[in-house]
Amino acid sequence: MYIIKLDGIKDSDFTLIAQSEGNKIGHLVFTVNVFDKETVIITDLEVRPKYQRKGIGKALVEEAIRRITKFSNVRRILMEDGSATGATTQIAFKLGFNYEPNFPNLRLVLPL
Ligand SMILES: CC(C)(COP(=O)(O)OP(=O)(O)OC[C@H]1O[C@@H](n2cnc3c(N)ncnc32)[C@H](O)[C@@H]1OP(=O)(O)O)[C@@H](O)C(=O)NCCC(=O)NCCS
Repeated sequence: MYIIKLDGIKDSDFTLIAQSEGNKIGHLVFTVNVFDKETVIITDLEVRPKYQRKGIGKALVEEAIRRITKFSNVRRILMEDGSATGATTQIAFKLGFNYEPNFPNLRLVLPL
C-alpha cells in the first residue's frame, strides 16, 4: 500500500513522492519551462528497485498529469526516457504520450 503526495514546491519545481509506511519509495519532479510557460517537463522519475513493476512509476506520472492539467495555460507535457529498460517510454505510451518528431532524443509529448 502506498500514497502519492506533493513533497514540496521550489521555484517552479513540483516534487511528487510515493510513500509506503512513512518511507519514500518513488519520486518525480515536474517543472514549468522557464522560457515557454505552456510546457511542463517531467523529470527524475525513479522508484526504489524493491518496489518496481507494481505500477508506482505509472501512478506517479498519472498524478503529475492530473495536477498539471489544472494549470490553465499549459498546452503540453514533455518527458525524456533516461531509463536503461525503456520503462519510461512504456509508461508514457500507456498514458497517451507520443514521440515528438521535432525532438528525436526520445522526447515524449502529451498534448493537453
Ligand atoms: C522507470 C521506473 C521509474 C518505472 O517505475 P515502475 O514503478 O517500475 O513502473 P511501473 O510498475 O509503473 O511500470 C509500468 C510499465 O512500464 C514498463 N516497465 C516497467 N519496468 C520495466 C522494465 N524493467 N523493463 C521493461 N519495461 C518496464 C512496463 O510496460 C510496465 O507495465 P507492466 O508492469 O504492466 O508490464 C523504474 O524502472 C526506475 O526507477 N528505474 C530506474 C531509474 C530510471 O531509469 N528512471 C527513469 C529516468 S527517465
